[in-house]
Amino acid sequence: MCGIVGILGKQAVATDIVDALRRLEYRGYDSAGVATLEDGKLSRRRAEGKLKNLETVLSQRPLNGAIGIGHTRWATHGRPNEENAHPHATDKLAVVHNGIIENFRELREELIEKGRRFESQTDTEIVAHLVTVEMEAGKSPVEAVGAVLPRLRGAFALAFLFTGETDLLIGARRGPPLAVGHGDGEMYLGSDALALGPFTSRVTYLDEGDWAILTRHSVEFRDEKNRVVHRPTQIVTPSAFLVDKGNHRHFMAKEIHEQPEVVGHTLSTYLDPISGRVALPSTLPFDFRDLDRITITACGTAYYAGLIAKYWFEQFARLPVDIDVASEFRYREAPLPAKGLMIVVSQSGETADTLASLRYARQNGQHILSVVNVQTSTIARESHVVTPTIAGPEMGVASTKAFTCQLATLAALAIYAGRARGHLSETEERRLVDALMTVPGLMNEALKREHAIETLSRELSKARDVLYLGRGTNFPLALEGALKLKEISYIHAEGYAAGELKHGPIALIDEDMPVIVIAPRDGIFEKTASNMQEVAARAGRIIFIGEGGMAGEAGVHPMAEIAMPAMDPFVAPIVYAVPIQLIAYHTALFMGKDVDQPRNLAKSVTVE
Ligand code: G6P
Repeated sequence: MCGIVGILGKQAVATDIVDALRRLEYRGYDSAGVATLEDGKLSRRRAEGKLKNLETVLSQRPLNGAIGIGHTRWATHGRPNEENAHPHATDKLAVVHNGIIENFRELREELIEKGRRFESQTDTEIVAHLVTVEMEAGKSPVEAVGAVLPRLRGAFALAFLFTGETDLLIGARRGPPLAVGHGDGEMYLGSDALALGPFTSRVTYLDEGDWAILTRHSVEFRDEKNRVVHRPTQIVTPSAFLVDKGNHRHFMAKEIHEQPEVVGHTLSTYLDPISGRVALPSTLPFDFRDLDRITITACGTAYYAGLIAKYWFEQFARLPVDIDVASEFRYREAPLPAKGLMIVVSQSGETADTLASLRYARQNGQHILSVVNVQTSTIARESHVVTPTIAGPEMGVASTKAFTCQLATLAALAIYAGRARGHLSETEERRLVDALMTVPGLMNEALKREHAIETLSRELSKARDVLYLGRGTNFPLALEGALKLKEISYIHAEGYAAGELKHGPIALIDEDMPVIVIAPRDGIFEKTASNMQEVAARAGRIIFIGEGGMAGEAGVHPMAEIAMPAMDPFVAPIVYAVPIQLIAYHTALFMGKDVDQPRNLAKSVTVE
């Protein structure tokens, strides 16, 4: 994840910016840079690799400006070299950016037509040019940023520095967090309070969609509709810096809200948005063309990610998938194909049953590919190849962001396998890659349904049992929804394939039974609609999660409806995970449960 810092200081700020960037190192990065203004003139220094390389550059060619921005870059669009490192600049401004600008390809083409030239392969550089074009047309920096922000799609945070403007920084947030630190005649911007810790304890987080105009003595917050708004300032205690929850009450909430950012980073690791192709970061020690089937094993939420991936591998790559929970797999003495592939999915990389399954498969001559979040873990070390998830540390016991990052990685792998095996054309690959690129922005949209979900969760918190229904890739999501609710609210919940309803669970349905139906617009929506009618006919209380207006189209009147944005059905289980998680979170909260540390559960289960 990239880190952003900005300082409006009294003396030269470059050293302080590098120090603050060092506090964001935990987010991971592969290049860094700083820009400052000296006598109003913009200068920048950038370096590939770690901050010490940037420090060497700065010691040889110091920057003396008292206002500046800095960045640690975690490569998304374009290789991690100096050219692609931030800040990106024109003669008018410099900008640093975290996240993905979804529509950058069309904006880039528009700018090229206008004769703009690009120095890097990044999506960030288009923002520098778009704002420059507005300024060349006579707009002030604030007006120019105000004109450009609504044109950007996706999930991102930005910080701007302008030539000649020695008392102005602008920050903007849509998705990844951004905080303003209030000093004494100084003002700061940072990706989190941790970065700002040494400078100030007075911190204001930008709300979703906000942007902020900073001078040394003032800060003005504006919302996405450009209205001036008030945002509360918090005093961050030193201990809070160690386990920063941002402006969230719980890690789980923070981690749910982080998903546009971390899923974006995970996707960027596997997709090349310019070519519209999957580009794996490491070479695979096997060829997908040589495989007859894949075995997947995992536990808990990671197992459900694997179950969703089964649909993708079978559909895109025509590869049959055998999947089992690791505690069963390890003892069932499964016959495995010669030189077959086992995919192991684990957030921690330490789960005992998953590790034992890996070892069994290794002894039986399988190639081991692991999808893990902790790259130093035992599972990562014992695998032949690791395709990491870039979720960052997950603290909440109930897995949220690790799950969606696992899905992002597995989706990319399935597309890659489909191409390698000749079952997907280049056009199909591009369509699927483009669909994946929309996920961070769609997740951000989904997060905006939180208020509606909170209202509905108050009702749900009174339920004794809850049923989740879904079809296709949304069936495993129904299982995951039920697991999330059980884990943190202790309400009994079950996930079912919607088509199985009439083979048993329909007997449970009455006016006390909430039934959560996950039904995006896809080829089998009508089938799910019939199942909803079956529930409605028995006075069951339906909570519909689907595209706005679709419940009405299906002829049912749900007790509540979570209206989701339209999307390619392929990415629906990744995006629909957001309301599923929020439902569990808010329901548990209403019930006064400890959402981050649910009873009897452990984050990493290293025993059988
Ligand atoms: C525990 C956690 C779950 C997690 C499962 C697998 O049960 O509470 O959230 O999904 O372990 O953990 P792993 O680290 O292997 O993904």
